[in-house]
Amino acid sequence: MILIDGKKAAEELREELKKEVSDLKAKYNKVPGLTVILIGDMAPSQIYVRNKEKSAKEVGLKSDVIRYPDSAEEKVILDKIKELNLDDTVSGILVQLPLPKHINKQKVIEAIHPSKDVDGFHPMNVGNLSSGYESSVPCTPLGCYLLIKKVEPNLNGKKAVIVGRSNLNGKPMTQLLLKENCTVTITHSRTKDLKGECLEADIIVAAVGIPELVKGDWVKKDTIVIDVGINKTDKGIVGDVAFDEVSKNAKALTPVPGGVGPMTIACLLKNTIDCFKRTQV
Ligand code: GUN
Repeated sequence: MILIDGKKAAEELREELKKEVSDLKAKYNKVPGLTVILIGDMAPSQIYVRNKEKSAKEVGLKSDVIRYPDSAEEKVILDKIKELNLDDTVSGILVQLPLPKHINKQKVIEAIHPSKDVDGFHPMNVGNLSSGYESSVPCTPLGCYLLIKKVEPNLNGKKAVIVGRSNLNGKPMTQLLLKENCTVTITHSRTKDLKGECLEADIIVAAVGIPELVKGDWVKKDTIVIDVGINKTDKGIVGDVAFDEVSKNAKALTPVPGGVGPMTIACLLKNTIDCFKRTQV
């Protein structure tokens, strides 16, 4: 079984991006900039944002974090986004989710100019991705896609089963694999025979938020299994895949932690650089 090393893949991607930033700096005499807006003091968000800032600086990006208290008014956030949309030194804007309840997520996502939407959440980018046009692609599915391609560069005609239909993972993952000529089945909580669907798959992407849902006998030999889950349980952090069981059957599997997670941030940096490049003439 191939244990897919997301940490190593992310390191390699960051090295490539570092070189790219340095080339862009030589060419344009400026570097791409990422601005993250963080509202409130939720611990996981604080950790994510600190990691994003650190990684952005490591590859040579301009990196800023704007922090607001939990009580910040929606208008203050929307006005700040408008200002950042017009700021030439800002290539990418990310508003860390989840947001406090009084702030409308959809309004915030739609306020970010699509050309600076490093999350790929704006409806314009969602539509462009599903039409097969150039777009920002959400960082986690992009990271999964790059890991799958490392194991299997030719995905033509492969059967992919996505477990989970979220806007964040399942749906964009589907679009990326369709582009690669996979036959894609999206499954979810109401799917009648999840095990049966998974047993048909050459590729399984589990992004459903249920600890160790995908079992060893759901996976045939030669299947690539990507585990997006990060679930807190009594025995620590586990994924959506029963790792020990599935590792006995699968062709390749991502661990949790150390699989998809490290790729997500590296892909955010990639998206920031891609946004910068698209706006240079
Ligand atoms: N919170 C957890 N994951 C993400 C993400 O990918 N983007 C944003 N903006 N917030 C998140």
